[in-house]
Amino acid sequence: MDRQDSIKVNVDGVRGFGLRNVSSQASISEMDDFDLSKLLDKPRLNIERKRSFDERSLSELSIGLTRGLEIYESTYSPGRSVLDTPTSSARNSFEPHPIVADAWEALRRSLVHFRGQPMGTIAAYDHASEEVLNYDQVFVRDFVPSALAFLMNGEPDIVKNFLLKTLQLQGWEKKIDRFKLGEGVMPASFKVLHDPVRKTDTIVADFGESAIGRVAPVDSGFWWIILLRAYTKSTGDLSLAETPECQKGIKLIMTLCLSEGFDTFPTLLCADGCSMIDRRMGIYGYPIEIQALFFMSLRCALALLKHDEEGNEFIERIVKRLHALSYHMRSYFWLDFQQLNDIYRYKTEEYSHTAVNKFNVIPDSIPEWVFDFMPMRGGYFIGNVSPARMDFRWFALGNCIAILSCLATPEQASAIMDLIEERWEELVGEMPLKICYPAIESHEWRIVTGCDPKNTRWSYHNGGSWPVLLWLLTAACIKTGRIQIARRAIDLAESRLLKDGWPEYYDGTLGRYVGKQARKYQTWSIAGYLVAKMMLEDPSHLGMISLEVDKQMKPIMKRSSSWTC
Ligand code: GLC
Repeated sequence: MDRQDSIKVNVDGVRGFGLRNVSSQASISEMDDFDLSKLLDKPRLNIERKRSFDERSLSELSIGLTRGLEIYESTYSPGRSVLDTPTSSARNSFEPHPIVADAWEALRRSLVHFRGQPMGTIAAYDHASEEVLNYDQVFVRDFVPSALAFLMNGEPDIVKNFLLKTLQLQGWEKKIDRFKLGEGVMPASFKVLHDPVRKTDTIVADFGESAIGRVAPVDSGFWWIILLRAYTKSTGDLSLAETPECQKGIKLIMTLCLSEGFDTFPTLLCADGCSMIDRRMGIYGYPIEIQALFFMSLRCALALLKHDEEGNEFIERIVKRLHALSYHMRSYFWLDFQQLNDIYRYKTEEYSHTAVNKFNVIPDSIPEWVFDFMPMRGGYFIGNVSPARMDFRWFALGNCIAILSCLATPEQASAIMDLIEERWEELVGEMPLKICYPAIESHEWRIVTGCDPKNTRWSYHNGGSWPVLLWLLTAACIKTGRIQIARRAIDLAESRLLKDGWPEYYDGTLGRYVGKQARKYQTWSIAGYLVAKMMLEDPSHLGMISLEVDKQMKPIMKRSSSWTC
């Protein structure tokens, strides 16, 4: 982030609508939360369960849409004040691991202020590293675990400031060379410049025009919506999401990703490097990471959009897309033993509607490794599906988000956890969690990554192990009732993270080595650990980041031996 031509604007504070105290507490409809106590081995929650605003089911929505939405009027109960994800009441009720205090200290050290207000956290606080690159910036995706940690700790203000500031940045006109980007794009990152002489703070934002490889952060807008919902759910404060500014922000993002074009699939077509994996790694096309985030943010937007005339138009489009997207993902991205065997026996060159092998995948293109990797018990959403191309790699973030958003059916969610258990060595090894599996090497690495020296096999994005993913794994474990898996993973992380200085990633087939170019004191490694700990301690926090099963989206799937075991 050093280009002179990056957009520099003296950004106003969040005057007008941002920092005033919000007195109106949520008017959240009453719905029942899912019964966490059933999932937990040690039920100890004593929280009044409320139906939260985000659990309005799609079926209700569809009915509502045809019936003029009267159903919402009846489920909405204005004036109700609900805090159904309480702030960390359990904060002091357990013996924290000795590294928890260190983690909090490190997290606070990473705070970035703008005009005296905390506004985010920098990516890494690593003074030992020779190159800062853009690790001194606030990344939207990196801030999510920090935000969750603050929300869980009863400190929502920083999250609110961040949401409002990024919303302002969304409104900037952004250009790459002479090309103007779409209106709703959220930045990948921003930096606060302090001028000690003039005593001014200025923001510089990067929408991809400064990033290495000029990659556009498709995930940023999705994370923003997901975080807005987490904030709303955690604080019970609906008034932020309901401001015209936030409503507009959501709609701009939705307009970008729901626009019609030449697509034949409901999935979102993306360039390489468009997400956490922000370098060329062969994820172009329809990457699972983005599809899962897309799905989740559609559902969050549905919960947050107001039901006025314009809002209803968006809601209608979102509902339609969700139906198509869930069908497509569950049918074509899902892989288990049975499905693999079916693909292995596919006929090719089929024409017309009756085709079984719809994308004309040539069985010879199935990589050898997947036959050994696939357990009899378990399954996962593969990396990518497009004409004649299935990327069979496992991606951790996409699969965890699929569980949390209920893109995965309950059976698929359990199967994903089964796979993690069955392939522990490969996917977790000595440090949770592999970003993807397996690594690509040799000729394939040359072609796919363009000889990227940072992404050599089992390093960084190419099969490296990322501690930040621990919070997603833990959330998925709690949701599926597989607490033991989370405990095991957290124990592994705890034995190394502090000692190693909170690295960004680890290398090697087992994730045993601190990554070749890994930053130390990487904020999301720190925050990810804290969030995982706090969720295990008080599983009701899960509600911030997890959505309910939507009964109407039950799949019409037939196969999978793993579903029935
Ligand atoms: C690297 C990662 C990206 C992350 C950024 C800041 O570019 O690939 O996912 O957001 O660093 O930590």
